[in-house]
Amino acid sequence: MNDIIIFDTTLRDGEQSPGFSMTTNEKIQMAQQLEKLKVDVIEAGFPIASDGDFEAVKQISQEIKNTVICGLSRVMKKDIDRAWEALQYAKKARIHTFIATSDIHIKHKFNKTREEIFQMAIEGVKHAKSYTDDVEFSAEDAFRSDRGFLAKIVEETIRAGATTVNIPDTVGYAITSEFGDLIKFLFDTVPNINDAIISVHCHNDLGLGVSNSLAAVENGARQIECTINGIGERAGNASLEEVVMSINTRKNFFNVRTNINTKEIYPSSQKLVSITGVPVQPNKAIVGDNAFAHEAGIHQDGFLKNKSTYEIMTPQSIGKEKSNLVMGKHSGRHAFQERLTELGYSLDEKELDDAFKRLKELADKKKTIYEQDLIAIVEEQKQGFEEKFKLQYVQSSSGNRTIPTATVEIIHGKETIIDAAIGDGPVDAAYKAISRITGCRGELKSYNIRSISEGRDALGEVTVKVAFDDVIVKGKALSTDVIEASAKAYLNAVNRFLSNHSVDDPKVEKI
Ligand code: KIV
Ligand code: ZN
Repeated sequence: MNDIIIFDTTLRDGEQSPGFSMTTNEKIQMAQQLEKLKVDVIEAGFPIASDGDFEAVKQISQEIKNTVICGLSRVMKKDIDRAWEALQYAKKARIHTFIATSDIHIKHKFNKTREEIFQMAIEGVKHAKSYTDDVEFSAEDAFRSDRGFLAKIVEETIRAGATTVNIPDTVGYAITSEFGDLIKFLFDTVPNINDAIISVHCHNDLGLGVSNSLAAVENGARQIECTINGIGERAGNASLEEVVMSINTRKNFFNVRTNINTKEIYPSSQKLVSITGVPVQPNKAIVGDNAFAHEAGIHQDGFLKNKSTYEIMTPQSIGKEKSNLVMGKHSGRHAFQERLTELGYSLDEKELDDAFKRLKELADKKKTIYEQDLIAIVEEQKQGFEEKFKLQYVQSSSGNRTIPTATVEIIHGKETIIDAAIGDGPVDAAYKAISRITGCRGELKSYNIRSISEGRDALGEVTVKVAFDDVIVKGKALSTDVIEASAKAYLNAVNRFLSNHSVDDPKVEKI
């Protein structure tokens, strides 16, 4: 009774928010990391929403063995059938079916009566139950629903077979004491409430997603729906790392536990940043760059005398170890392979050769190679598509009294193509030259750069989002040189786009 089920919805609620879309391959990588983190449930997507979502839920169901895989569906029969079509491969599958119960939604979204919504909810749960025992029902916008109606729907969906009933604060409107009180009300009112797990799903519109989830736990909820880095619709969902570390750090207060391997929290946060290219704000609790940094003199003095003066948890407890020097210029292939195995990677001979070649190239440019560098090298290789254009070299010049220019040489099959351009800056100039060479002109929508490890010679990772007409494509690349990383990231987006479209495609502008 004191175990809190951590239901991760990074790949569903998180992924559906702007800027966080992921390919199926990226969703599988993220699901593997969530399994390492030991979340109890992975909500892998909303299968009826798109073919891409369906495919991701199906492949994650086939791939992940130890975690419950959940798919979202409205209460309609066709949604539930489609969800099961994707989930049927999972070792442990959950159907999560939902309908809104607040009068605002019932009137404006559905133009129906409460009674009709009630019947639809019961039928949906029964239909889901015909496929699997593990059925979750969500009363969307529960917090703004009439309490009496909500209590009735909770009672009857449990009677219809729901094993988990979720009480979302869909629009993040609740104040913490009110939300705790709503959960208490349900425990006091619903006669069969102990026949199901009561879950909460709190959005963060007023910045209260985590505290509302914790207030629900104090009042009997035993599942929290949350996301890595708190991503999700609008201002996001309750952040997994904040929920888990609150429960861990204040054990004596909450008197509950989770199954999470907290040492995988920081790697999970970084993995999401690396996949989506969306950085975490530096002062973000738990996983922000400054979360364990002590700047003020008085703080530093106290911290040096005794860490407990200013540190309530350690960076090590979330897997934010001091960077380890792992490899050098003279490290051998075997040692490299062993280190990768320790990090959880198993590469075939060709992949290992390529990665080792890249390690040596990097060692020529960078004195110390850290664990994060190795991870970045291997991850960069896992593209899953063929690169039509390869950057041979980029040379740029800029300054406060020069017109920025870039010369770019690219290999395309047996051809080597060279071109130069001027631009607003050296990166812009390089992008213009690449556009001319590849014949594929895109509009840069976002550009992010982050340092992978430490020191002045650290690897920089550039992530770009480029719009080719109405198709937005992500590109990512690494280098110790930021202009090179920028050019490669843009070319990566071009290659990714061209892997699905040809240059004769009307979307591709011939230059
Ligand atoms: O916010 C919400 O209410 C949801 C439901 C589908 C659970 O995401
Ligand atoms: Zn939500």
